[in-house]
Amino acid sequence: MSGLANAINLFDLEQAAQECMPALAWDYVAGGAEDEFSIVENRRGFQRMKLRPRVLTGVREPDLSTSILGQPVSLPVLIAPTTPLRIVHPLAERAMVSAAGAEQTIAVVGTDSQFDLPELIERAPQRLWFQLYTYGDRDVITRLIQKAERSGCRALVITVDTVRAARRERNLRNRFVVPPYVETPVLLGIGLDDQQIADPANSRRYLDSIPTVMLTWDDLTWIRAATSLPILLKGIMTAEDAILAVEHGIDGILVSNHGGRQVDGTAATIDVLPEITAAVGGRIEILLDGGVRRGTDVLKALALGASAVLIGRPAVWGLAVGGEAGVRRVLQMLRDEIENAMVQLGLGSIADIGPGLVWRPTDL
Ligand code: FNR
Repeated sequence: MSGLANAINLFDLEQAAQECMPALAWDYVAGGAEDEFSIVENRRGFQRMKLRPRVLTGVREPDLSTSILGQPVSLPVLIAPTTPLRIVHPLAERAMVSAAGAEQTIAVVGTDSQFDLPELIERAPQRLWFQLYTYGDRDVITRLIQKAERSGCRALVITVDTVRAARRERNLRNRFVVPPYVETPVLLGIGLDDQQIADPANSRRYLDSIPTVMLTWDDLTWIRAATSLPILLKGIMTAEDAILAVEHGIDGILVSNHGGRQVDGTAATIDVLPEITAAVGGRIEILLDGGVRRGTDVLKALALGASAVLIGRPAVWGLAVGGEAGVRRVLQMLRDEIENAMVQLGLGSIADIGPGLVWRPTDL
């Protein structure tokens, strides 16, 4: 726990996490596709954007609260889905979700969660969103979506940038495989072979053998009909796809390059945000993830059109170092940094944040 006690910022926690995690798990979390260019670029993108402070505004105690898809949060930072968390901490999603509840924000939980949805929702009622991977056929997926809705999840996040496993070279070198103690109870009771899923010796092989549905835009029609939950698409990186999302009746998009883990060579998410904000024209909600490590990063994303950001790896670092307390600490650090920056920049509330806050280089 000393790593937690001594940490001042997220980078301290990153280092503490590396020190306490087995190398294979560390590489799985830290790594990305091929040259890991997009991981670096996500950070550089934020660093290229500069802030424009306003003075003499009288702001002393800014209000960080806001609402996302009509759901109140105490700060504009949500927790992204990251699986399998069981390789990082035995309490995995339970700790993540409890931390999100305690800090009054939202956690997005993945299809491969170690704990089932009803158990998680108890820890943070109203604060769970479900992230869908499309195992099985239409009927199975429909039952999975309906299970998430019935369990009390408040939004459906469809990850659209993962049509196949990426080439993550650290994992290839380490011959990383998901260990058999990682369970997938969310997939029980939806028409797959429950016996195989529940059997640690077979479940991974069985899941890998199930064909997944290759989603296209047309599939959003039957998914839309299967649920009354708001739907977000996670992994949008262009204005063209943002417009298609609007045209297909999607409620929100998450600008994301999967933390540089899927296709290497994409731009920083913060760099593509302005074109997406312009294309969407306020018609649906925009969220962003990828490389958010500082309170000022959050403000830059909000200035350029996001209504909130998500953190992936930082929450995992917190989990590795201190379980639920560690994840809470990550959110508290960001909360403190956002609060401090808002005072220095003359911003009294989230609604005060607009494009004038940021100076953008024209030649990226
Ligand atoms: C992920 N991510 C991810 N996304 C998703 O939709 N489903 C998933 O199961 C996972 N799993 C996962 C595992 C790990 C270890 C990481 C680091 C990431 C991507 C994640 O939701 C998010 O898009 C990125 O992590 C955001 O970038 P940062 O904050 O990690 O830089």
